[in-house]
Amino acid sequence: MDSMDRSMEIRMEMGEEPAGDLFDRYGEVVSRGTVLFYEGDPGQEMYIILSGKVRISKEAGGLEKVLVVLGKGEFFGEMAILNNKPRSATATVIEDCRILIIDRETFETMIRSNGEIAVRIIKKLAARLQEADNQIENLLLRDNMSRLVNHLQRKAREAGAPATGEYRMPFLPEDLASEAGILGHHLEDLLKKLRSAKMVQTGGGELTIVRMEVLERFSKYLEMKDQFCNLT
Ligand code: CMP
Repeated sequence: MDSMDRSMEIRMEMGEEPAGDLFDRYGEVVSRGTVLFYEGDPGQEMYIILSGKVRISKEAGGLEKVLVVLGKGEFFGEMAILNNKPRSATATVIEDCRILIIDRETFETMIRSNGEIAVRIIKKLAARLQEADNQIENLLLRDNMSRLVNHLQRKAREAGAPATGEYRMPFLPEDLASEAGILGHHLEDLLKKLRSAKMVQTGGGELTIVRMEVLERFSKYLEMKDQFCNLT
């Protein structure tokens, strides 16, 4: 079968459960804990997740930073193919996965022959760039409390939180620290302060912003403090 036939078959299946024979040819079952590739490895294949979860992470200054956790229907590993560079991050299976593994030739044929897939990939890359910009903005904030509050507000807003009142979100301390660019042991101190000020509550795998409008005011205060601290 040539790469055009393969790409036609695979694009039909992107993100959906493929027919048995297609899975037999391109699919793999990968168990939790498997590292699919490391940052810096050469890369000749991209991956589509049919089920399960994959963590994309980078190492900096001896710390692992989680860039994103990907799930069903999402793809990764396309960058090394598109720009002929080594893997930009490490991919680790964190929940048993069924994945399709697509070679360079088939991937390029998929993009060339199908505008819908090309648009989908461009949109995904634009969303990643936006997220990277958000992370840069967050890292430019001077102190940890500003980073945390800014990050919580943005996550809540992106998930459709109301401007006022309570909002609950899933909470895993390691993920929150990594996403907000804060060391784990600093995060607990910061959360303690926010809890005692009754701005947040944590428990049962959830973080509750008690009143969105109060967090917003605190965020403005931190911003002004940062801006005018040299004048007082
Ligand atoms: P590649 O560089 O081949 O290998 C690592 C993959 O992780 C990369 O392709 C992308 O698919 C994915 N990736 C890299 N950076 C990000 C990011 N900031 N957000 C989401 N996915 C990313």
